[in-house]
This record gives sequence, structure tokens and C-alpha cells, in this order.
Amino acid sequence: MVDLDTIVSLCKRRGFVFQSSEIYGGLGSAWDYGPLGVEFKNNVKRLWWRDMVHRRDDMVGLDAAITMHPSVWKASGHADHFADPFTGCGECGHYYRADQLREAQAGSRWAQALRKVLEGAAARKDRAQALRNWARSDGKRLAPGLPWVKDPGQPVPEAPEELLEGVRPACPACGSPRLSEPRPASLMLKTTLGPVEATGTVTYLRPETAQGIFVNFENVLQASRKKLPFGIAQIGKAFRNEITPGNFTFRTREFEQMEIEYFVKPGTDEEWHQRWIEERFSWYLRYGIRRENLRLREHAKEELAHYAKRCVDVEYLFPMGWSELEGIANRTDYDLRRHAEFSGRSLEYFDEGTRQKIVPYVIEPSAGADRSALAFLVDAYHEEEVRGEKRVVLRFHPEVAPVKVAVLPLLKKNEKIVAAARDLAARLRERWYAVYDDTAAIGRLYRRQDEVGTPFCITVDVQTVGDGESPPDHRVTVRERDSMRQVRVPLAEIEGVIEALMRGSWSETAARYPAQEPAA
Ligand code: GAP
Repeated sequence: MVDLDTIVSLCKRRGFVFQSSEIYGGLGSAWDYGPLGVEFKNNVKRLWWRDMVHRRDDMVGLDAAITMHPSVWKASGHADHFADPFTGCGECGHYYRADQLREAQAGSRWAQALRKVLEGAAARKDRAQALRNWARSDGKRLAPGLPWVKDPGQPVPEAPEELLEGVRPACPACGSPRLSEPRPASLMLKTTLGPVEATGTVTYLRPETAQGIFVNFENVLQASRKKLPFGIAQIGKAFRNEITPGNFTFRTREFEQMEIEYFVKPGTDEEWHQRWIEERFSWYLRYGIRRENLRLREHAKEELAHYAKRCVDVEYLFPMGWSELEGIANRTDYDLRRHAEFSGRSLEYFDEGTRQKIVPYVIEPSAGADRSALAFLVDAYHEEEVRGEKRVVLRFHPEVAPVKVAVLPLLKKNEKIVAAARDLAARLRERWYAVYDDTAAIGRLYRRQDEVGTPFCITVDVQTVGDGESPPDHRVTVRERDSMRQVRVPLAEIEGVIEALMRGSWSETAARYPAQEPAA
């Protein structure tokens, strides 16, 4: 499994994700999506919207404001309950959410370094020596609070895995075991609306997009004339004053959610919950996440949010271990009832079958756009050796890949080739995000596209345009990223071929056209 540092460095180098405000030293745990990152994350959101809204006739969309009436947060329970217990390090002063300490500890810099040391020293005798060596070298810098690093007289741990897995708590920043008892903290980001702070309205930047859906339930119902069961979907920013942000874009204070509130008749809620769990799990598989890196985790009773009857997480095996990708909760009728109570408006549904008014139950599949994008990125990352050289390739599903096609002229000094390649790129741009690149030799150009996951490269060469000796054959070479296989395709048929390839049928395409010896 690739480590997060490798992903962070690829993201920066190739323009997927940059540290926020980097020229000022950076703002902790805030990230900006660069030219390729914005394409990639938009693809994740577009696919979610297409599959969850456009391809179903029981769903409609919404885009609610980020700031809402302060009573929303009283009614929703966030004002009173949205305070996760935190714990502080008595040695270095860092704070962590108590329920995320394990995850933060497993993903900490010192745990990652220690994991590598242990992997390198398989034999038990070696392990103790390797730990002692590490304590005297990198350990001093990365984990000065670990007792056996601080005091070389103390024995190295018998089972260091307990430290790495967070079974034995230690500060993720310094390794110290001096962590305070958990205390509550508010996760809501407060803001004042109005030109004068003293007289402004104090409200919060929404900690979840869901409440915008609940307060619009009546509006959407009347405007769309939907019948139960039906859902309202929304993609948008959410904000939380996280105590332990970290692990790159996995946990940040500003992030994007892709949420569905699916309204059903009470009594059918458990069945619908199960259907949504299966639907959402298979969505990640559909776009290329490997089955072995995905699992479902049932929440224990004491873990459930104040509104939930049952909740199941879709978890992904991130570099720091299994972690939540999406939560699918049965929120019962809690939110509609609370908003009806606090607003004085009746948020009921008239059931024509029974001629009775009911308050629908809600199934909520709630995914993170940034976390999904991170999972797609980590899962796609591959390193392999090709003709004695390392090839880094992002094996994105074509629909997820930021760039779909790269058009590459074989000789950038041949005007006919360049003109034909530019024409072709312009033609393809009518339908897909296609790029033209002539800034290096063909081998290098292929590697660059592999590294950002471009599924198809098209090369225009001398045969395409002809020269003094041979007439043009009006064909180009289409190369598939993962197999590196190539076929020679007539220019006139290119759109049809790319269309078929986007649906994932390389073998059919390869069977229809003559193969070309791979250049790289
Ligand atoms: N409306 C329900 C809700 O908000 P949640 O489990 O707190 O549930 C849903 O959040 C999803 O939002 C998570 O599964 C995760 O993908 C994403 N998410 C939550 N907090 C996040 C954070 N601090 N940074 C990035 N993504 C986050």
C-alpha cells in the first residue's frame, strides 16, 4: 500500500492538491485543488450526481445556503450535542478528538516511520536492536515523548504493534502517553452575519449539508409533487472545528459532502436502509475501487449519533488503516419532527392510500467528496517496472480520470504533424477533456500522462500526415494506459473509438484495429 507522503507529493507535483496559503507558510489541514485536482474531484461529484439523481426517478436535487437560521442548529440538536470529547497531550499541548486518537496515532509521522523500521527487521532479536537504533536517531526527532526514546535506560516495548495500532495510547505529535481525560468541545464554526459584529446575528457555518434538505422538505415536496419514497440530494461545503484534522484531505475543517435524505414510509425504513447500504457500497466498486479495500462496519449502540436508529459505515483501507468513507444512517423521523416543533410548521406528508398524515422516516447516505476522491486516488496508485525503469501510473476508471485523452505529436518540429494533432485535440475537446502536449519526447510524454491517470493517448506521426515518400494513411496510434497496448485507428473513427473505450471495452477495440508495437 502506498504511503500518504507519496500521494501528497504526487498531488503537489502534478497539480492535484496544494497546501492552502502555502506562500504564507500554509494553513494547517486546509487544501486547495489544483488544475487536475478540480477536474478529478468534479468528476467524482458529477458521477455521484448522475447516478444518484439523474439516473433515478425517485430523486431530486437541492443547493441550500451554507449559513442558516440559528434555530436550525437548536432544532437539529447540533447546538447541544455536536461536541465531541477531546483529549490533550500533557507534554506537547496538542489536542485530539478522543474517538479519533487511535486513527491519528496510527497515521502519525512517528508511527509510519516506526512501521517501516519494524518491517525491515523481521527477526525478533533484530527488532529490539532496530527499535533501540531508531530511538537514538529518528525517534528523537519524531517522537521525543515516547518514554523509551526520551530515556534510553527504559526497555523498548515488547509489542510495539500496540503502539502503532493505538491500542496503547500515545500522543500522535510527540509519542507521550500523558494524555488527559476526554472533555467535550464544540465542533461548530461560529460566524457573525451583519456589518457590525456587536449587533450581528451569530450563526454557524453548517456542519452538515443535511439540515438544508430537512428545512426545505415542504418546499421540495410541493414543487416536485414527489410521492414517498423519494430523496433529495445535495453536494456542498460543510465546516467543522475538528480537533484532530489530518491525514491530508481525509479530515479537514472545511470539506465537501455528497448527501441524500431519502424519505420513506415508517415501517419500510429498515428495508430501504439495507437497499441504500448495498447501492452505495457497489457505487465505489463501479468506479474502480478494489473490493478487498472496501468493507462495511456496523455502528455499536453507544457510537450512534443522537438522531440515528442504525448506522453502517462504508470503510476504505486508507494508508493509515480502515477509516470511514461514508455513513449510511437511519435518522428516523427525528429531524422532521424537531423542525416542525421548533418552526411551528407542519412537516407532514399526506398518504393518499391510507388518507392519513404521516411524518416520513429518513435514510441518509452521507459521503465525503474529498474522502471519496482520496480513496480513488490511493486505490489507483501503482508503481511498476517497465524496461528497467519505474513507471508510476494512476489506474483511474476513465470516468474518474481528470484528463480523458492526450494528443501527442511524435515530432514537434514537423508542422503537418503538429497541425493535425492540434486539430484532433480541438475535435476531441468538443466532447471530452483532452489535452495537447509537445513539450518532451514521446516516452516522457507517455509517462507524464500515466502519472496523472490519463486513460488514452493518441499519437500523430509521419504516417498519419505522409511525407515526400509516402502518402498519408490518415490513421493515428491509440495507446491504452494500463496495458500500454496500441492500435492504429483511422482519424475519421476516433470519436467512436474513444466513446467505446470510455465504456471500458479495450479488448473489443484492440480486436477491430491493427496492433502497433508499443513505443513505451
Ligand atoms: N449528515 C451526516 C453526517 O454529516 P458524518 O459521518 O459526520 O455524517 C459524513 O459525515 C461524511 O462526511 C463522512 O463519511 C466523511 O466522508 C465526510 N466528512 C465528515 N467529516 C469530515 C472532515 N472533517 N473532513 C473530510 N470529510 C469529512
